[in-house]
Amino acid sequence: MRTHFCGLIDETLVGQEVTLCGWVNTLRLQSHVAFVDLRDHEGIAQVVIDRDNEAAFKVAGEIGYEYCIRVTGTVRKRIAANDKLRTGTVELVAATVEVLNAAKDLPFALHENPNEDMRMTYRYLDLRRPEMQKIMRTRIALVRSLRRYLDDAGFQDIETPILTKATPEGARDYLVPSRVHPGQFYALPQSPQLFKQILMMAGFDRYYQIARCFRDEDLRADRQPEFTQLDLEFAFVEERDVQDFVEELIRHVFKDVIDVQLDASFPRMTWAEAMQRFGSDKPDLRNPLELIDVASAVKHVEFQVFAGPANDPEGRVAALRVPGGATLSRKDIDQLTEHAAKYGAKGLAWLRVEDKSKGREGIASPVAKFLDDAALASLFDLTGADTGDMLLFGAGSWKTVTDFMGQVRLKVGRDRGFVAEGWKPLWVTDFPMFEYDAEEQRFVALHHPFTAPKVDDIGDLRANAATAVSRGYDMVLNGNEIGGGSIRIHRPDMQSAVFGLLGIGEEEAEAKFGFLLKALKFGAPPHGGLAFGIDRIAALMGGTESIRDVIAFPKTTSAQDLMTDAPSAVALAQLKELHVRVADALGKG
Ligand code: AMO
Ligand code: AMP
Repeated sequence: MRTHFCGLIDETLVGQEVTLCGWVNTLRLQSHVAFVDLRDHEGIAQVVIDRDNEAAFKVAGEIGYEYCIRVTGTVRKRIAANDKLRTGTVELVAATVEVLNAAKDLPFALHENPNEDMRMTYRYLDLRRPEMQKIMRTRIALVRSLRRYLDDAGFQDIETPILTKATPEGARDYLVPSRVHPGQFYALPQSPQLFKQILMMAGFDRYYQIARCFRDEDLRADRQPEFTQLDLEFAFVEERDVQDFVEELIRHVFKDVIDVQLDASFPRMTWAEAMQRFGSDKPDLRNPLELIDVASAVKHVEFQVFAGPANDPEGRVAALRVPGGATLSRKDIDQLTEHAAKYGAKGLAWLRVEDKSKGREGIASPVAKFLDDAALASLFDLTGADTGDMLLFGAGSWKTVTDFMGQVRLKVGRDRGFVAEGWKPLWVTDFPMFEYDAEEQRFVALHHPFTAPKVDDIGDLRANAATAVSRGYDMVLNGNEIGGGSIRIHRPDMQSAVFGLLGIGEEEAEAKFGFLLKALKFGAPPHGGLAFGIDRIAALMGGTESIRDVIAFPKTTSAQDLMTDAPSAVALAQLKELHVRVADALGKG
C-alpha cells in the first residue's frame, strides 16, 4: 500500500517515486497549489499538489483535517528548508491523491490542548496527537527495557490469574459473579501478591510479571482503578538483596529509555525520619524545605494551641521556614491556610521576620502576643530564621500536623520555585508494621498482611504491636511512590499471629488465606520482593503529571471509560443468569 513512512523521507530519495499513507495534519489551499502536511506514526511530510494536476488538485479541494489519504509522487528538494520538521529539506510532488477514508468535522482541534473529557471520548483522535504518540512510546520503551533486563538476569515471566480470590492491598475489590456457583464471586487481583509468594514456594526462585492490578479506590492523578505493575519476587533474600538489584534495574532503564543517569547509590531514610523532616512517607527531595520541631520553644507559653500539643507526647508543633517568605501576601497565607485545612489543619500560624535585629519590634505575627522573649529567641534559634523570612507553624496531633505541614511544604516549594530540576530517588524503610484505624478500632497493615516484622519473636511482636517496625520498603522518586515491597512472612505461625493482630480471626483466616497458611507449612523458603508502578514511572519519564496520559485507554476520576461508556447497565437476562439482583435501578432489559 505504501513504500515509505511520511516521517522518514529524506534527501536520499530525491527524484524517486514514493507512496505515502497518512492523515491530513494541515491543509493550505492556494489558487495554484495545495500543500498538505501528511502525518503518520513516524512524523510529517509536506505534499505539494499543483493545479496542473487536475485530478489530484480536485481531491485536494475535497479533503479536510484528519482525512486518511494515500499519495504517490516524486520526492523533491525544497527551496526553503523547514528546520522544524525532520523531513524539512524535502517534499513530495503529488502525482495521485486518493482518499482512503473521509473524516467528519473534528470535535476538537488536535493541535490545541483539548479538554480531558473530549480527549477520553475521542481517545483515537487524542492518541493521534504527536505528543501522545511520543509519551506512549516512552512507556513501550520502558516495558521493553525492563523485560530485556529481567530476562537476561534469569527471571521467570509467569502469568497469574485475573479471576481469583481477594488479595488485600488495602483497597476495595472488583468482584465478578460466578454463573455456575450461584452467590459466589471471583475477585480481580489487587496485585499478584499471594501467587508470586506461592511461586517462590514452588521453587521458581526469581519471578517477574508485567501485571494488571485492579483496585476500587478513590482516584487521583496518580491512581487508576486498573493499572500495571512490574511485579517481582525473589527466594532466599534479605532486604538489601532485593533493593540492590532493583535499584540497578531502575538506573538501567532510566539510562536506557530517557538517557538519565540516576545517583550511583540511592539515599536511604527511615519512615520516621521522612515523616519528621518532610511530613511525608514519599518525600520530594528536590524541595529543600524541611519541617522543624519547635515544641521545646513553646512548651511554657500560655497559648494553648501551641502549648497543648507541645506538652503532649502524641502532639506536634512544627515550623516551616520559608526563605524570603516575608513577601508572602495575606492572600498567599490565606490560600496556604485553606490548603492546610484540606488536610485537617485548624489554622496555620505565621511569623514574618521583617528585621531580625529589632527583635520583637521587627516581626509581624498574629501569635506574637502569645510568645514571650524566650519563646521567640528559641524559635529563631531552632529555625535559623532571618530577616526577610516567613515562619509557618502547625500545632495539633502528631499525625495531623505532619500531614498538613507536609502538604504546606509541597505547596510553598512549588509556588515559590524552590523545587530543583532533576531526579531525586530514595529508599524509605522501617515502616510501622501496623496503623491503628480509629474508626474500625483495630490495627490495619501499613503495607499488606504478608509483610514480615523486624522481630522474629511472636511474643515480642504481640507485646509491642503499636510500635512494631516492618521489613517493608518503598522506592520514591521526586515525591512519587514508584515501588513498594517487603520481605515476607515465611513461617505459618508468624503469619497466623499477624492475622490475629489485624483482627482476622482463625476462621476468617482459614476461609480467606487457608491456601497460603497451608502452603507455608511445606518448606516455604524465605522470600521477598517488590512491585513498581509502571504507569507512574512512565508518567515521570514522559514528564506528565497524570498517569492517564501513559495509559492508552484510561478511566476518568470517576472510574468511567468515556469512549466505550463503561460501566453500563446490562440486560436483565444476563443478571438472572449470574444470580444477581440490583438493589436500586434494575439493569435495563
Ligand atoms: P503497592 O500497593 O505498594 O504494593 O503497589 C506497588 C506500586 O504500584 C503502584 N500503584 C498504583 N499505580 C497506579 N494506580 C494505582 N491505583 C496504584 N496503586 C499502586 C505504585 C506502588 O508503589 N503486592 C505489593 C508489592 C509487593 O509487596 O511486592 C503491592 O501491590 O507505584
Ligand atoms: P486563634 O487564636 O484561634 O485566632 O488563632 C491564632 C492564630 O493561630 C491564627 O493565625 C491561626 O491560624 C493559628 N492557629 C490556630 N490553630 C492552629 C493550629 N492548630 N496550628 C497552627 N496554627 C494555628
